[in-house]
Amino acid sequence: MKKIFFVLMSVLALLIGIYPIMYAFVELKYTFLSSKSPVLLYDITWKTAFFAHIIFGGISLFIGWRQFGNSFREKHMKLHQLIGKIYVGSVTISSVSAIYMGFYANGGMISAAGFICLGIIWLFTTFLGVIQIQKGQILKHQQLMTYSYACTFAAVTLRLWYPLLQSLTKDPSGSYTAVAWLCWVPNLLAAYCINQRKAATT
Ligand code: HEM
Repeated sequence: MKKIFFVLMSVLALLIGIYPIMYAFVELKYTFLSSKSPVLLYDITWKTAFFAHIIFGGISLFIGWRQFGNSFREKHMKLHQLIGKIYVGSVTISSVSAIYMGFYANGGMISAAGFICLGIIWLFTTFLGVIQIQKGQILKHQQLMTYSYACTFAAVTLRLWYPLLQSLTKDPSGSYTAVAWLCWVPNLLAAYCINQRKAATT
């Protein structure tokens, strides 16, 4: 069961992690960017934040799952450390730009608040995870990085929840508002359960 869950999570992370590449091939009017105002699209700060967010968010999602397999980590500790450094750098860039973009999110104040909270928690759990490993606190490091990746994984759950809610409610904007919270709150609850089990077995 645990193995099936891990494989499913990894495949979804790889698929959605690579998805931002489509911005290099698809005309912008056929993407999410067509939902933004021309003023924002000509704003160099917002546009830089957008591309920084999707490129480095994609990298963190694409590589982050590899950090969780016990046997891989034990066999390839140097690689674990290298992937970890790339992950932390990518999350830092992507989360700071996401927090900024959150203020301009579609769906108004409630969805903006959802994305901004997620961005802040993403950044903080990742940094605290780094501080714990520097102190030699392995269990706390693992637990914080589980929370961090639960946030990263919001990019996947958002793209599962949104079409589901939209088809159930036939209300795209209400669904978007709900999804700005639904994409990460259950992920953090799942991470909490995983961490409790881990703490009980170590
Ligand atoms: C986990 C914290 C994250 C936060 C807080 C966040 C926040 C945001 C925000 C605010 C937007 C703009 C939404 C709008 O203006 O309505 C956005 C769009 C986007 N984000 Fe993220 N994001 C996160 C993670 C990720 C990750 C890990 C990826 C990696 C694939 C990603 C990929 C994208 C893409 C591709 C878009 C453009 C929309 C689309 O093409 O579907 N995000 N994000």
